[in-house]
Amino acid sequence: MILEVKDLRLAFGGVRAVDCLSFSVGVGEIVSVIGPNGAGKTSAFNCVSGFYQPTGGTVRLAGEDVTGRRPSAIAARGLARTFQNLRLFGELSVLDNVRAGTHLWLKQRAVDALLHTPRYRRSEREATDEAHKWLDFVELRGDRAGLVRNLPYGEQRRVEIARALARRPKLLLLDEPAAGLNHGEKAELLTLIRRIRELGVAIALIEHDMGLVMEVSERVVVLNFGKEIADGRPDDVRRNPAVIEAYLGRDTDDDEVHAARTELAGEGTQHA
Ligand SMILES: Nc1ncnc2c1ncn2[C@@H]1O[C@H](COP(=O)(O)OP(=O)(O)O)[C@@H](O)[C@H]1O
Ligand SMILES: [Mg+2]
Repeated sequence: MILEVKDLRLAFGGVRAVDCLSFSVGVGEIVSVIGPNGAGKTSAFNCVSGFYQPTGGTVRLAGEDVTGRRPSAIAARGLARTFQNLRLFGELSVLDNVRAGTHLWLKQRAVDALLHTPRYRRSEREATDEAHKWLDFVELRGDRAGLVRNLPYGEQRRVEIARALARRPKLLLLDEPAAGLNHGEKAELLTLIRRIRELGVAIALIEHDMGLVMEVSERVVVLNFGKEIADGRPDDVRRNPAVIEAYLGRDTDDDEVHAARTELAGEGTQHA
């Protein structure tokens, strides 16, 4: 197992955002985490990646207990993530945003940077080459020298994935990567996720797009009110009455939850 989450708990005041959640991700596996808005998906990812301190439970990454460690320490042990709301450096170029991901493993000494030694210049070239490699990998179409905030939204999402890959992770957490993408971009995302897995990187995916989830996942974990209500193969989960109830039993104006209901009911569009 690359990730083992056991009895994870996170409370905000009286709200049990994550309530005794256990799940795991195998090496090279794609596992989706689904559930209605507010179910605790992002909170669980924030605990796994060290952005929140869990109230209880354990998180093991590649066999090592990383519970409550700082995000940088967990990243250094092989975890990279993207965010539900993009977190790029808007005032930096596309290329520099991805180069930032390489600093995790590219060991640069301050003294070399200060004196601009050949060693420093070599490592800067290496960072640039690596950034281009990942921008090629995600098939970024836009200008790499321009500011990242000038790219269309779908392209910015690719840059964020490229930056995460530049960290050379063993496990990649993607929080709603299809949100805001059009139909064609979603189909490309599906292919991209599969290509990332072919690199040997395991993926944990939070996603509302059920077509994408059902097509790409080996396993699906379903959360409702912080608790796991199902964990199984996509076809079993989609027929699970408790899962359908979790989506149907809520009053919501959220378009994506409505879409998820339709897809769970079997009327969804299929991805290529
Ligand atoms: N920083 C926070 N402070 C207080 N409550 C929060 C915070 N983040 C999330 N919550 C609450 O925790 C619950 C789970 O939220 P979240 O993890 O964002 O759900 P999801 O990603 O499944 O939509 C919700 O009730 C939400 O309001
Ligand atoms: Mg969320």
